[in-house]
Amino acid sequence: MPRLGVNIDHVATLRQARGGQEPDPIAAAVLAQLHGADGIVVHLREDRRHIQDRDVRLLREIVSTSLNLEMAADETMVAIAQQIRPDKVTLVPERRQELTTEGGLAVVERRDWLQGIIDALHASHIPVSLFVDPDVRHIEAAHALGAEAIELHTGHYANAADSQTVESAFQALVEGAQCAHKLGLEVNAGHGLNYQNIKRIIGISEIVEVNIGHSIVARAVLVGLGQAVREMKTLVDSGRRHDET
Ligand code: PXP
Repeated sequence: MPRLGVNIDHVATLRQARGGQEPDPIAAAVLAQLHGADGIVVHLREDRRHIQDRDVRLLREIVSTSLNLEMAADETMVAIAQQIRPDKVTLVPERRQELTTEGGLAVVERRDWLQGIIDALHASHIPVSLFVDPDVRHIEAAHALGAEAIELHTGHYANAADSQTVESAFQALVEGAQCAHKLGLEVNAGHGLNYQNIKRIIGISEIVEVNIGHSIVARAVLVGLGQAVREMKTLVDSGRRHDET
């Protein structure tokens, strides 16, 4: 059965909206693990728009499953990873203006640079996964660079507007997964996966891990909202002192 990595970036997004302390992604990680997550994923972005350095430090203390640190392939981030020692680093492309990670790494074009980053992480015994589009060129290059794993970018499949595009995007994922598996790479997948489109992805037998964030946090807001309102309503109903009524 594939492992489920729960990405808690958007718990931090909600916290950052008010610049306070809640909701705390550390509490979210504890709960996600209690309820069956096989791993916790966070993306420490250069602009620190959601996850903060403090979060990653504390997560390293409390994550008992597996901590997957997503980060840009740059030396400052490598130094942070070497201090934190996550169970795995997933290298992703990062642009400041983007809403979320938009595409896979240009592994072929950035081969030399990535080799240095991967070697530095390996020197600290940190396994490396490369986030790639399902493109044989990039998958073969990831293997040649010595990455332990790839994470197939499922965004094109997840966001496809019509059934023909869904089919071709899905087929590309199947072929990419087979190619990576044959090369001996561990095959992970993620981005844009939700409670509907996950079903076919799980059918790709080479995929051993899926990493899912936005749809889980979005659902948590909705399925948890009823209880949150009930608790506040109880406080509001019972909280006023008798002589004030
Ligand atoms: N995998 C990678 C490499 C990502 O960059 C992201 C988004 O941060 C995810 C998985 C999770 O994507 P989503 O939030 O759409 O589930």
